[in-house]
Amino acid sequence: MAEPIRVLVTGAAGQIAYSLLFSIAKGDVFGKQQSIVLHLLDIPPMLPVLEGVVMELQDCALPLLREVIPTDKEEEAFKDLDVAVLVGSIPRGEVTERKLLLKANVAIFKSQGAALERFAKKTVKVLVVGNPANTNCLIAAKSAPSIPKENFTCLTRLDHNRACSQVAMRCGVPATHVKNVIIWGNHSPTQYPDVHHCKVNMAGSDLACFEAVKDDTWLKGDFISTVQQRGVAIIKARKQSSAMSAAKAICDHMRDIWSGTPEGEFTSMGVYSTGNSYGVPEDLVYSFPIQIKDKCCRIVDGLAINDFSRGKIDATATELMEERDMAVAALAMLGHPQNPDTRL
Ligand SMILES: NC(=O)c1ccc[n+]([C@@H]2O[C@H](COP(=O)([O-])OP(=O)(O)OC[C@H]3O[C@@H](n4cnc5c(N)ncnc54)[C@H](O)[C@@H]3O)[C@@H](O)[C@H]2O)c1
Repeated sequence: MAEPIRVLVTGAAGQIAYSLLFSIAKGDVFGKQQSIVLHLLDIPPMLPVLEGVVMELQDCALPLLREVIPTDKEEEAFKDLDVAVLVGSIPRGEVTERKLLLKANVAIFKSQGAALERFAKKTVKVLVVGNPANTNCLIAAKSAPSIPKENFTCLTRLDHNRACSQVAMRCGVPATHVKNVIIWGNHSPTQYPDVHHCKVNMAGSDLACFEAVKDDTWLKGDFISTVQQRGVAIIKARKQSSAMSAAKAICDHMRDIWSGTPEGEFTSMGVYSTGNSYGVPEDLVYSFPIQIKDKCCRIVDGLAINDFSRGKIDATATELMEERDMAVAALAMLGHPQNPDTRL
C-alpha cells in the first residue's frame, strides 16, 4: 500500500461534498491501493454539520481512509496537501449582484491561494469547483506564486459529461462511446460545447459526430443551448444546484489528472492560458481540450476551428476577460488596509 496522500475538500459540509467524499474515500479517484487522509474545511457555523459528515465517513469503515481532519482553520486544512478540491464558495443565490459575488469570492480564493502557498506541497494539484470557477481558480493561482500555474485547474468536466450524454442519448449509445467533445471557455452560459472533433462509436466503428447524429440543426442549436443552460434547468427543477453529477465530474477530472487520459483522447478542463493556443488571451483560466500524461495537463493544439466555432470561442473569452478585470480590481482593493470592502 502506497503512503497516504493528503486530500483537501473545502465546502465539506455542503451538498456536493456529501456526494463526493464517499467516492474519494473508497478509492474511485486515486485508486484502490492509495490510502488517504481527508482534510475537510468549512466555515465555523458549519462545524456541527461537518461533525456529522465525519461520523458517517467513519461509519463507512473504508479500508483506504486513514484519517479525517475536520477544521475551520486554513493552516490545518492546507498543511502538506497533495490535492486540493476547492468547492466552498459564496453561492449565486446569496449575493445577487455579479460584482459583489465576484468580490466575495475573490476574498475566499485569495485567502485559500495564500494558504496553499504557505502550507501545501509545491506539487499540490488544485481543482477549483466553486463558482465563478474559472475566475476563482485564476485568483487562487495568482495568490500562490511559488506553485506552478499548471497545477491549477477548474471544473468544466460536468459540462463535458453533459455534452457527451446529450449526443449519446441522441445516438442510442452509452455515454462512453462518445469521445473528444470540447468545452471551450467559461463554466457559464457563454461556454461553447463543440462536437466538430467528436467521434461516436456506433456498431463498432468511430463516426464523426455530425455523421452519427445526422441532424446538423440540432447540433448547432438546441444541443449547444441545452448544455449551456443545463445548470439553470437543474436548479429550476431541484431548487438546488447540481450535486451528484458535479461530484461525479470532480472524480472524473481528478482521476484523469492522477492517471492520465487514454491515448488519442482528450477531455475538457479550465487551465491557465499563456496566450499561445487558439487565439485565447493570456492570463485567463479557460477551458480547452486537454490531454494528461505523468500528471501534467497539456492543451491539444492544432485542431481546425471553423468560423462557427471561432465566434463562440472568442465570445466566452471576452466574458472571462471582463470577470478577470473585475476580480483583479477587487483583489487590489483587498490588499488596501483602509478599504472597508476588505470585510467581504
Ligand atoms: N464548476 C462546476 O461545474 C460546478 C457545478 C456545480 C456547482 N458548482 C459550485 O460549487 C459550489 C458549491 O456547491 P454546493 O452545492 O456544494 O453548495 P453548498 O451551499 O451546499 O455548500 C457550499 C459549502 O461551502 C461552504 N463555504 C462557504 N465559504 C467557505 C469558505 N470560505 N471556506 C470553506 N467552506 C466554505 C459553505 O459553508 C457550505 O457548506 C457553488 O459555488 C456552486 O455554484 C460548480
